[in-house]
Parts: sequence; C-alpha cells; structure tokens
Amino acid sequence: MSTQVESVVTIVTGAASGIGAACVRRLAERGDTVVGVDLVADVDAQVRALGGALGVVTDVSSSAACDAAVARAVEEFGHVDHVVTAAGIEFNAPAQEMDDDTWSQVQRVNVDGSFYMARAVGRHLIATGRPGSVVLIGSINSMMSMPGQVAYVSSKGAVLQLGRGLAVDWGRHGIRVNVVAPGVIDTPLNARSFADPVRIAYYADRAPLGRHGEPSEVASVVAFLTSADAAYVTGAFVAVDGGWLAGELPPSQTEA
Ligand SMILES: NC(=O)c1ccc[n+]([C@@H]2O[C@H](COP(=O)([O-])OP(=O)(O)OC[C@H]3O[C@@H](n4cnc5c(N)ncnc54)[C@H](O)[C@@H]3O)[C@@H](O)[C@H]2O)c1
Repeated sequence: MSTQVESVVTIVTGAASGIGAACVRRLAERGDTVVGVDLVADVDAQVRALGGALGVVTDVSSSAACDAAVARAVEEFGHVDHVVTAAGIEFNAPAQEMDDDTWSQVQRVNVDGSFYMARAVGRHLIATGRPGSVVLIGSINSMMSMPGQVAYVSSKGAVLQLGRGLAVDWGRHGIRVNVVAPGVIDTPLNARSFADPVRIAYYADRAPLGRHGEPSEVASVVAFLTSADAAYVTGAFVAVDGGWLAGELPPSQTEA
C-alpha cells in the first residue's frame, strides 16, 4: 500500500526577479510546490521556467489581489504552508523632495503588500489548523539609512516590526514568522548602483566579507527558515549582509 506524501506549498511574491526568483528556484529544487506572484504579465511562464508550479499576476498592494492569489493556490494545490514576501520597490529622493505619491507607493508595496500577503496565508493556516511559516524580506535598511532613502528605510523598518507583531500574534497557532535582511545583493533593483564602479567598489569594501551578495545566498537562508530545521525560530531578524550591520573596517584594512 502506498502512502501519498502531501507536498509543501510555498507562495513567493516578487517571483519574477532577483531575490524572489532565486527563492522560487531554491524552494522548487528542494521539492516544494511553488506558486510565484508578481506584477509582470508573464509571471506564470517565468515561475515555471524556474521550476515553480504556477505564477499568478498579482499586485501585492491590493489586499483583494493577495486574497485571490492565496485562494488560487489553495484551489490548485489544496493548501498553502509558507509564504515568502520578496516583492518590493525602492525610490530614493532627499526627504524634503519626497512627494506624497512616491512615499505612499513605497509603503503600499513594501509594508501593505507584505502584510496583506502574510495575512491571507495566516488566515488560511489558522482556519485549517495547519502550522506554517512566513518569511518577510526586510533589509539592512530595516536598521540603518543612507542618503535619500527615507521612504525605503521607513518601509523596511516597518517590515521588521510587522514580522515581530505577526510572530507574537500567531505563535500559538504554530505559525513562525521571521524577517530576512539582505545586504547589497546583485539584482535588477540595484542595477543603477551596480553600473557605477565607484559605488560598487564602496559596497564591496563596506561589507566585512569584502563583496556583495548573490540572490541565491538569500534564498538559502529563506529555505532554512521555511524548513523543519528552523522549528524553534520565530520573530527573528536574520541579516544576510556579509557582516554589514556588524560593523565596518577602517579604510586602511579594506585591501586585506
Ligand atoms: N537587492 C538588494 O540589494 C536588496 C537588499 C535588501 C533588501 N532587498 C529587498 O529584497 C526584495 C526583493 O528585491 P530584489 O532586489 O530582488 O528586487 P527586484 O527588483 O529584482 O525584484 C522585485 C520584484 O518585485 C516585483 N514587484 C514590484 N512591485 C510589486 C507589486 N506591487 N506586486 C507584486 N510584485 C511586485 C517586481 O515586478 C520584481 O519582479 C525587496 O523587498 C527589496 O527591498 C533587496
């Protein structure tokens, strides 16, 4: 008699690019049924090309769209176990020049979008009595700023506290919630910085490990946090930043 093993179903937002795409690939490689969501029209093809099972066009800044994406995943695959919220945007300007729309848009995608998608999955997990987990992608900018980043750092600081709030609310339901904080990672979000040799040299020097990070290096930590190996980890802030937040080397030692 064969017993069918139920697959682990994981939703990844921002699945069409950068860190989200790396998470789709990594989680699919370990055997999860991965549902990717993103704004881009060809997300289904992109997610399937990464090894995922389904892509759903979704604007995470709409709570109705997030609810619909989770409902679609449940309809297709029976349930959802984990969600990784990697959809995010960054628009920079000095605080005094930041306009209302830009400010709101950054908060809507980065904060509201993380909450709406986590809440949709949390409601499903609680209603069905399933344990599960949420990984919110924060940033080193959950903790620190650089010039012009007022909207982005405010949103990422909120994501850190969102993770703690959800971890406390949902701990008794067996739902773990953690925040992963990437440092400087080579993705399209950073394309302009990576095209500037001075800035990229600074980024490499600034991190104690002496280099920027790759999306796969964030995805591997997400894979850990969404696994049974992290069964007693919740409410954590996990930096994947080459040591950026730990401190910096004086200029005389950056050649080492
Ligand atoms: N790259 C870095 O250095 C870095 C560092 C720290 C934190 N992060 C965070 O990691 C996350 C992923 O960033 P990335 O570097 O992979 O960026 P990216 O630009 O490569 O990918 C972001 C994805 O999110 C999608 N997206 C944007 N708005 C959306 C919306 N409203 N609804 C659904 N999808 C939407 C985009 O279409 C894109 O596919 C973001 O939250 C970002 O803030 C990135």
